Amino acid sequence: MPVIAIDGPVASGKGTLARRLAKALNFAYLDTGSLYRAVASLVLARGSDPNDSVLAAKVADSFTADDIDRDDLREEKVGQAASIVAANQEVRKSLLEFQRNFAKTPPNNHLGAVLDGRDIGTVVCPSAEIKLFISATPEVRAERRHKELLGRGDQSIYARVLEDLRERDERDRNRDTAPLRAADDAVVLDTSDMDADKAFTLAKKLIDERLSA
Ligand code: DC
Repeated sequence: MPVIAIDGPVASGKGTLARRLAKALNFAYLDTGSLYRAVASLVLARGSDPNDSVLAAKVADSFTADDIDRDDLREEKVGQAASIVAANQEVRKSLLEFQRNFAKTPPNNHLGAVLDGRDIGTVVCPSAEIKLFISATPEVRAERRHKELLGRGDQSIYARVLEDLRERDERDRNRDTAPLRAADDAVVLDTSDMDADKAFTLAKKLIDERLSA
């Protein structure tokens, strides 16, 4: 089963791209950030601190697919907490098997799998057929996130969004375990000056070429 690994920083557009590619190819799609968000959400729901590594590890250990359906996963505070629990080695270890199983046996008879995250090409699926690393400048990503938040009726201040994004980038890139970085064999796509359609067209062309080779 072919696997497409899509990594990149927060608000790079990787989620939109991954979802569209999965649909076009009839592949199953897993947003692996939602696993870390689910663990963070469960920790916060207990009134606990995401920095409590023993508790976060325990929550991750009993993670099931149903946890991805929690309502608050897209909230900014859950995103920040997700970035904290994601730096926890035990949490990462617990979630690894779920991700690898999904890639190996995509649900619902799909023909392959698209996974997006931070370490899919480097750690989760190092032998993925196609690896993309999606990047864009912090300012462009903050602008996108800011518009997205306003668009769904949330309050948002651009400067604050940029600050949070830089903080999250810093933590995701500099953690000891599975830091965010492009795999050596990943194709890097800088979407700073691209809209979602252009990114999709380029990625789809590349994938079609690789899969038919
Ligand atoms: O992509 P996202 O914003 O939903 O991810 C939330 C957090 O989860 C992010 O700050 C880092 C972490 N994450 C990770 O460490 N590894 C992944 N494969 C996916 C997400």
